Amino acid sequence: MPKMLKADQNISTRSGPEQGGTLGVKMRQAQKLLRERQIDTAQLDARLLAAKAFGCAPADVLWHEGDRMSSQATKRLSGYLARRIGGEPMAYILGQRSFWKNEFTVTRDTLIPRPDSETLISAVLERITDRTAPYRFLDLGTGSGCLLLSLLREYPAATGIGVDISAAAVSVAIKNEQRLNLQDRAGILVSNWFSKVDGTFDIVVANPPYIVDKHIDDLEPDIRDFEPRRALAGGGDGLTSYRDIAVSLPDCLKRDALVAIEVGAGQSGDVCEIFGAKGFRIDGVFQDLGRRDRCILMRR
Ligand SMILES: C[S@@+](CC[C@H](N)C(=O)[O-])C[C@H]1O[C@@H](n2cnc3c(N)ncnc32)[C@H](O)[C@@H]1O
Repeated sequence: MPKMLKADQNISTRSGPEQGGTLGVKMRQAQKLLRERQIDTAQLDARLLAAKAFGCAPADVLWHEGDRMSSQATKRLSGYLARRIGGEPMAYILGQRSFWKNEFTVTRDTLIPRPDSETLISAVLERITDRTAPYRFLDLGTGSGCLLLSLLREYPAATGIGVDISAAAVSVAIKNEQRLNLQDRAGILVSNWFSKVDGTFDIVVANPPYIVDKHIDDLEPDIRDFEPRRALAGGGDGLTSYRDIAVSLPDCLKRDALVAIEVGAGQSGDVCEIFGAKGFRIDGVFQDLGRRDRCILMRR
């Protein structure tokens, strides 16, 4: 892992006497620094971090390249670079990540939404073709709310509930609900799976934690050291959450309800078996772009 830069070290003092330099100069210094620390995405990261520190959209960096960077903005940039050099994912430093068609606020209390999870959104859209019905959605382990809120944007007459065991994650999902103007159609609450969930649903989605506990230490450091363990750890065989969910799921389903559940690499057979034993039939297995089974659709 690259060596840590202390948060109070200013990039100007490390990389030249550029105090009060322009955005363009600071961005190039940042890029050089990140490259020296073997960060593959140095150019892009430097641009995004410089834009955030300066307070402009990344697309406007060229426009502002010749503008002077204030000492506060330079200090902010130094702080961001220190975090990046320490291995922190860009999404946490920027405080957001795009997923499906929207930007989502993320913090270290939430998993960073993954492109693989967009497989679940495509699978639901493929199966539920009537976009106008007033469906009721449930999202188990909502995290940033990316699954529920993306689906509610696709089904404009639908409502939904997202639950998470982490109160901090729930606060972030509520921010996203407001950011996407979905507060009238979404409810986000703290719940241990179904403990606080009432009623029945047309569509239940879930991306539960599914990493085998003993494999967590082998994950890439940016995941292992920064993402919430509760969002990753799936128990001794990675399947604990699926078993827990399968027990109570039948009670909250409307007639012919659709269940869409994300699985980890190599888990689809085991997950189909767990839900099959509770009377579910498989309605489709969808693969991610890497051609791994990623989302299972089921009905009961
Ligand atoms: C893999 S993350 C998925 C987050 C989000 N849905 C996404 O796709 O990016 C799993 C989420 O499940 C939550 N979780 C773990 N155990 C839970 C439980 N017993 N009840 C409710 N949520 C739980 C975690 O806090 C985490 O936010």
